[in-house]
Amino acid sequence: MSETDSNVGIEIEAGIATITVDRPKKLNALDNDTLEELGEAFQDAIFDDEVGVVILTGAGEKAFVAGADIEMLSRQGVLDGKQNSLLGQDLMDLIEDCPKPVIAAVNGFALGGGCELALACDFRYASENAVFGLPEVGLGILPGYGGTQRLPRLVGTGRAMEMILTGARIDAGEALRIGLVNRVLPLGELLPACRETAGAILSKGPLAVQMAKEAVRRGSLLSLKEGLALEADLFGLCSATEDMREGMKAFLEKRKPEFKGA
Ligand code: HXC
Repeated sequence: MSETDSNVGIEIEAGIATITVDRPKKLNALDNDTLEELGEAFQDAIFDDEVGVVILTGAGEKAFVAGADIEMLSRQGVLDGKQNSLLGQDLMDLIEDCPKPVIAAVNGFALGGGCELALACDFRYASENAVFGLPEVGLGILPGYGGTQRLPRLVGTGRAMEMILTGARIDAGEALRIGLVNRVLPLGELLPACRETAGAILSKGPLAVQMAKEAVRRGSLLSLKEGLALEADLFGLCSATEDMREGMKAFLEKRKPEFKGA
C-alpha cells in the first residue's frame, strides 16, 4: 500500500481482522489522518459479523509504531496540543472498548504513542527485536495517548514511573519480565503465534468471550464489590444464551460445541 493511498490496512481471514499501520517510511508514526484511519478500521471490525478477533501490527520489519508524528506535534500550541492528546485517547478507548479481543503484534519499535497503542490492546506478543519506551519527556512533553494511566495499571507504579520519567527504552526480554508483553517470538513467528491464539479464542463462545472482556475492562474501573456485581450480572445474561446451553450439552455429550453467537 502506498503512503499516499492509505496508512492503514485491514485484512480479514478466518474470523481474524489484521489491522496494519502502514507508513513504513516514517516508522509507522501516527499523524492525525492515520489515527482517523485506524478508528475507521476498528469500527469496520467491530460491526463486521465475520470478525471475532483483531490483531494490530505495523508494516515492515523495523517498527510497530514509532510514536505520534513528531513533525505534527512540533506545531502544536496549548489548545491543539490538548486536542492531539484527546484525539489519540479516543482511539485508544475505542480499541480498549472494542467488544472483540484485540491482540497487539509488536514487531519492532513501540515508542511513545506506539507503546500507548499497544497498551490499549487486550494483550501483547512481541518479536525479539521489539523495543518499548515512553520517550516523551525527552521531547518536552508527557505521554498523551493514555500511557501515564495504562502503563502503571499494567506493570505497577514504580516500573511505569521509571520508564516515564527517564524515557528509557526496554527490550523485548525486559518487557516480558515486567509483564508488558505475554510472549516474545522470532519476528517470523510473531503473526502466526498471534493467529494461533486468536484461533483458540474463536473456538470459544463469542458472547461469553465478549462478556468476559467487558467484565475485566469495566471491572478494572470499579471497586471489588461493584466489579463482582457486574460479573454476576453478565454471568446471568450469559446464562440466557443458546451458546451456554450448547457449550454444556456438548460437554455432557462428549463432543465439540457448535457456538452460534446467540
Ligand atoms: C515522525 C518519525 C518518527 C516519529 C521516526 N520517524 N519516528 N517521524 N514522528 N515519531 C521518521 C524519521 O524522522 C525518519 O524520517 C524515518 O522515520 C526513519 O527514522 P530514523 O530516525 O532515521 O530511524 P533510526 O535511526 O533507525 O531510529 C529509529 C527510532 C527513531 C529510534 C525509532 O526514529 C526515533 O527515536 N523516533 C522517535 C521516537 C519517539 O520519540 N517517539 C515518541 C513521539 S511523541 P526521514 O524523513 O528523516 O527519513 C509521542 C507522543 C504521544 O508519541 C502523545 C501525543 C499526544
